[in-house]
Amino acid sequence: MSGARANPEPAGLPVLVEAEQIARCVGELAAAIAADYDTGEPLLIVAVLKGVVIFLADLVRRLPMPLEIDLVQARSYGGTERGDRVELLGDVAAMDLAGRHVLLLDCVLDSGHTLSVVRDALAVRGPASLKTCVLFSKDRAREYDLVPDYVGMTIPDVFVVGYGLDCADRWRHLPHVAWLPADAQEGTA
Ligand code: IMP
Ligand code: MG
Repeated sequence: MSGARANPEPAGLPVLVEAEQIARCVGELAAAIAADYDTGEPLLIVAVLKGVVIFLADLVRRLPMPLEIDLVQARSYGGTERGDRVELLGDVAAMDLAGRHVLLLDCVLDSGHTLSVVRDALAVRGPASLKTCVLFSKDRAREYDLVPDYVGMTIPDVFVVGYGLDCADRWRHLPHVAWLPADAQEGTA
């Protein structure tokens, strides 16, 4: 595709959530998590790559309790609707979760498919507790049985990039979240 709208520069994308608003939201999430996990026992945060990286870095630096970080990567085939396959990369089978307090972290909840697959894979490994946290939850119906324990903010059901979220691995580095119109997605898939 050619033309001005193809692969627009970051500054050309409409801002949906300002960086300052995201920072406030991460602070509120950190306060809520810190209040719930004040037992002194270490928390294990399992974060879902790659979209989570900037949220993870910002959140953990605001958490006062002892914690460890582990990472999984999820890849979905054929989109993200019901019936599509989500494959987990990373050694989930090697994770020793027995007796651990686990917080599963992702940047955005869309259909809920990805997070439900990761949650189910962790749940069978015997954690003492397993909660989920997303920074952004899309305002849409979900066919998957997943209600996150912590939600930063609800956003419109549109495709967004920035603050870790990508389209074809682009735009993750934006400090804010931008709406990526359909015509700007063309040629990037
Ligand atoms: P799910 O539909 O909840 O399974 O979301 C699947 C994955 O698609 C998420 O973990 C994100 O990595 C990605 N995703 C969903 N919505 C967006 C978006 O608006 N922008 C960028 N990535 C997204
Ligand atoms: Mg992506």
